[in-house]
Amino acid sequence: MNVLITGGIGVNGAMTARLMVKESLRPVLLDNRMDLSLMRDIQGQVDCVEADVCDQQALEKIVDDYKVTHIAHLAALMPEPAEANPRLGIKVGVDGTVNVLEVARAKNIKRVVFTSSKAVYGEILGEYAPPNCKPVREDFPKHPADLYGTIKVCCEEVGKYYRETYGIEFIALRYVSIYGPGKEARHGPLSFYGQLIEKARRGEKWLVPQGGDQLNDAVYVGDVARSIYLAVKAERPGESVFNIGTGKASTPRDFLDAASKIFPNHRIELGPGPSKLGRSKQSYCVFDISAAKKHLGYEPSYDVEQGVKDYVETLNRVGR
Ligand SMILES: NC(=O)c1ccc[n+]([C@@H]2O[C@H](COP(=O)([O-])OP(=O)(O)OC[C@H]3O[C@@H](n4cnc5c(N)ncnc54)[C@H](O)[C@@H]3O)[C@@H](O)[C@H]2O)c1
Repeated sequence: MNVLITGGIGVNGAMTARLMVKESLRPVLLDNRMDLSLMRDIQGQVDCVEADVCDQQALEKIVDDYKVTHIAHLAALMPEPAEANPRLGIKVGVDGTVNVLEVARAKNIKRVVFTSSKAVYGEILGEYAPPNCKPVREDFPKHPADLYGTIKVCCEEVGKYYRETYGIEFIALRYVSIYGPGKEARHGPLSFYGQLIEKARRGEKWLVPQGGDQLNDAVYVGDVARSIYLAVKAERPGESVFNIGTGKASTPRDFLDAASKIFPNHRIELGPGPSKLGRSKQSYCVFDISAAKKHLGYEPSYDVEQGVKDYVETLNRVGR
């Protein structure tokens, strides 16, 4: 199995590459920005290629050069940059995905795994919202509330078309909120959990007046990596869209408590109650992950404490 990871040096890509290296693979990482700071520990065990995911010729050449058999397609713009430049957000998101699928079609690549998001569901209210957090399944109605979610829905639909028309095994993994090393630097305020951990690590003073009790499903990037790896290698799974999370609610307080065990002298003050820091539409929720368990063998292996510990250890290892 020769795997190409687009967006491969980003937060999720770097951890996915690290897991694949552990599984004795040598993934090819395509990215249009060669910031290798998250992969210093595995740099010699992967191939990094600078290219734009929208460049079909470049993609075809990479597939040929490295005899790529599977693609994990992660390259995308995050919500803020996409909203700041909608044309570019749509180009990288939608055109980039079509490009990956066209190359898969031309080069007989059977499987494309796509990283989608809970943003496809949009606002999550009523019994599905905290405090009840009835688990959200894959058949929850899709009403994206922002451009990012709209792009993800569009990519999923295009992927479905290629699956039904050309037989490409397109698998969409929809993620809850993800936390992982490098998030604070790359995604800034979008990463509240990452900020809590990294500011505690730096001993930075931070006063957050409220939000400590906000219930939400937040998954560690180590489990994200595992889900991508499982989806890449699964024998023709019975479903093609999977919700990926922990299946449980945690709170920012849980994260700060876990960080406090490692950095007892941190200078963060976190007030109680629900968060006012999220994006405008409420999307805190918990995912039902039973389909991923059944069809992919996915099982989250990091609770908050283990996730925070690995987050810090990984930052230390890559020298950030
Ligand atoms: N972080 C989350 O909470 C979250 C949640 C759900 C889904 N996802 C999805 O997971 C995927 C990876 O996200 P991440 O958190 O690692 O983000 P990231 O920003 O760290 O990584 C994305 C990578 O894509 C690259 N990229 C952007 N435009 C490109 C282009 N034109 N050509 C080639 N590479 C390009 C970037 O340089 C970056 O390294 C994305 O598809 C994202 O939408 C993330």
